[in-house]
Amino acid sequence: MAASFTRDSGTQTPTTYDRFQELKAFDDSKSGVKGLVDAGITKIPRIFCRPKVEDHDSVKPIPTQFTIPVIDLENIKTWSDEVVEGIRKAGGEVGFFQVVNHGVPQSVLEEMLAAARGFHELPTEVKKSYYTREKTKKVIYGSNFDLYESRFANWRDTLFCVMGPEPLHPQQLPLVCRDITMEYSKQIHKLGTTLFKLLSKAIGLTPDHLIGLDCSKGHCLLSHYYPACPEPELTLGTTKHSDPDFLTILLQDHIGGLQVSHQNQWFDVPFLPGALVVNIGSLLQLISNDKLKSAEHQVLANEKGPRVSVACFFTPHLYPSTRIYGPIKELLSKENPPLYRETTVEDFISYYDSKGLDEKSALAHFKLQP
Ligand code: OGA
Ligand code: NI
Repeated sequence: MAASFTRDSGTQTPTTYDRFQELKAFDDSKSGVKGLVDAGITKIPRIFCRPKVEDHDSVKPIPTQFTIPVIDLENIKTWSDEVVEGIRKAGGEVGFFQVVNHGVPQSVLEEMLAAARGFHELPTEVKKSYYTREKTKKVIYGSNFDLYESRFANWRDTLFCVMGPEPLHPQQLPLVCRDITMEYSKQIHKLGTTLFKLLSKAIGLTPDHLIGLDCSKGHCLLSHYYPACPEPELTLGTTKHSDPDFLTILLQDHIGGLQVSHQNQWFDVPFLPGALVVNIGSLLQLISNDKLKSAEHQVLANEKGPRVSVACFFTPHLYPSTRIYGPIKELLSKENPPLYRETTVEDFISYYDSKGLDEKSALAHFKLQP
C-alpha cells in the first residue's frame, strides 16, 4: 500500500490505495497508454496523477528572452570556427540545440516518424509479443520503464531498440518499422560521429578524442508515442530528467510539448521542419567536467495527439565495457579540478534505472564534494 493523492484532490489530502495492484494491472494489460485511450477513458487513472506539490512550480522567475540555438551544419566540411563556437556555446551553456542541414534526408525523417507511429498503432495483439520488462532484450515495447519506481506514471509508450555496437538483426524488428529503422540508425550514427568530433573540438580536444573514448560506440533508438490525453494538466508525457547517455539526437513531430530547463525556467523546444534536436547526456557532462551541460527536460501531456518522437541515445547500454569514465585528464588543471568521481557506464545506468525518473539529477550522486 502506498500513500498517494486522489486524482481530483485539489486539497492534496493523502489517501491510500493499492497502487501496486493498479500498476500491475496496467502492466499486465501489455497494451500501454494507447490501450487506455483506445478503451475510451475520459479520466486518467490515478497511477498517472502527478503529485500537486512540485518544487520547480513554486519558483517563477522573471521571464527572459531565450530561444534554443539552431546550428547550420552546411559548412561542416570546412570546420568553420563559427560552427565550432556555436556548438561550444550551445553545448556548454544550454545543453540543447537544433541542427539543420545535417545530411539526413527529409524522406528518411518522415518515414521514420511514420513507422514509429505505425508500430504503436498496430493491433495490441501484435505489439504484445514485444512487451517485456526484461532489460537484456534488444527490442522492447513497453510503457514507463520506471513504472514501479517512479512517483507517477507518464502518458507515454515506447519501442526501445538497441542498434549497436553489435548490429541488430533486422528480423528482430517489427516489420512495420524494420527497413526504415535500419536506415535511420545508419544515418543518425553518422551524424552522431560528426557531432562528437565537433564537440571534441569545441571543448579544446582533438577531433577524435570523444570517439576514442567509445562515446559513439553504441546507440539505441527509442520511438515514443504520446497519445492524446483527456486531462493533460494532471500528468506529464515525460517527467523532468536528463538523459543517461553521452549524447541524444531527437526527431520530433509537429505536435510540441518538449521543454528544456534553462536558468530555472521551462522553454519550449519548438518543432522546426527538417531539424533534429541534439542534447548533451549526463555521461558527457561528467567526462567533460561540466564543459558541456546535460540539460533537464520534460514533455508535457497534450489534449492533441498522438505526438511521436524518436530519440537516439548514444550509449553502450547492453555492451558496457569495464572502461572507467571520469573527467577527461586533458581538461583538468589546478583551476579546473575534477568535479566527478569515476564510474563505469554500467554503474551509472544501474543507478539511473534504480532511481527512476524522480526529477532529481543522477549526476549529483557522482559529484565529488568540494
Ligand atoms: C527522451 C526524451 C523527448 C521527446 O527520450 O529521453 O526526453 O520529445 N524524449 O520524446
Ligand atoms: Ni530525454
